[in-house]
Amino acid sequence: MTQHYRITLLPGDGIGPEIMSVAVEVLKVVEKQFDIQFEFQEALIGGAAIDATGEPLPATTLDMCRNSDAVLLAAIGGYKWDSLPRHLRPETGLLGLRAGLGLFANLRPAKILPQLIDASSLKREVVEGVDIMVVRELTGGIYFGQPKGIFTTETGEKRGVNTMAYTEAEINRIGRVAFETARKRGGKLCSVDKANVLEVSQLWRDRISQLASEYPDVELSHLYVDNAAMQLIRWPKQFDTIVTGNLFGDILSDAAAMLTGSIGMLPSASLGATGVGVFEPVHGSAPDIAGQDKANPLAQVLSAAMMLRYGLNQPVAASRIEQAVIQVLDGGDRTGDIMSEGMNYLGCRAMGDALIQELEKLAS
Ligand code: IPM
Ligand code: MG
Repeated sequence: MTQHYRITLLPGDGIGPEIMSVAVEVLKVVEKQFDIQFEFQEALIGGAAIDATGEPLPATTLDMCRNSDAVLLAAIGGYKWDSLPRHLRPETGLLGLRAGLGLFANLRPAKILPQLIDASSLKREVVEGVDIMVVRELTGGIYFGQPKGIFTTETGEKRGVNTMAYTEAEINRIGRVAFETARKRGGKLCSVDKANVLEVSQLWRDRISQLASEYPDVELSHLYVDNAAMQLIRWPKQFDTIVTGNLFGDILSDAAAMLTGSIGMLPSASLGATGVGVFEPVHGSAPDIAGQDKANPLAQVLSAAMMLRYGLNQPVAASRIEQAVIQVLDGGDRTGDIMSEGMNYLGCRAMGDALIQELEKLAS
């Protein structure tokens, strides 16, 4: 029986629309190859939404996302909107989407592809074989904690405040996702916190340690976040799955991403307890190259693969896309960000065409 899925597309800003259109073309090929039918509906978010409606996350967008099986997001933001008040910034739209869909678990894989080892700024022996999954808590911690704001003190001085807070329930649910993820991967989980200084981290560490008894097959370790940052650069192969809070996860996932050479290759999945997941590249909207057909669409395409695997339970179709990406790289095709000597330079659209050719070969 044909599986029917309604997908909300959020192309957003900068290179977003270009890379999204490649991902949609790829999905249209996948649709023909498997017994799947997509109904795509497009909505506004970020700067594009601010320009059109005056707000970064219009209510209609959130409704459309809620009424779909999965959301594929490209990227948001750009210089143009950087000086707007915070509630009108593109980033606020993204945070609203995460909160509005209850997406507390953010999975950010950083896996180095053998074809791209020389694109890493670290030595081959340090990065070869790196395969890390960062599980970042996404709807709590200092991003959302109260009180927050810029207040005026009694002396008339301004004081900026954010609050890092986690409840036991919030730690338990992200902890469970992390243990389950580690169990399906290399069986090792490293929890990252700052328990030597922060109470919120002490509770985090206590809860995660408690949970470990439910997962005897997973080997749990703990690191302070400063040490974790160092270890990621020093010897990343010691890591399998990492679990951490919102802010530490934001920072460490960028560092982990860069181990692989280009942030332009990495997808992510944001999942809630039930319902709709959001799938998006780790990279941003790259306004400096927007509209020039220079963007690398592979992270977007791999996000579509993650959508098939984690959001729609279509692992075979997901693998097909991932395989096509590997074949294209094996054939020597490269966008500018992963270009190296002797390789074949392609723009964004041409990279999409190359992927489609490979997909068609894989089906025959
Ligand atoms: C990310 C980004 C966002 C975050 C910004 C754009 C709000 O850096 O997804 O990592 O800080 O979470
Ligand atoms: Mg970030």
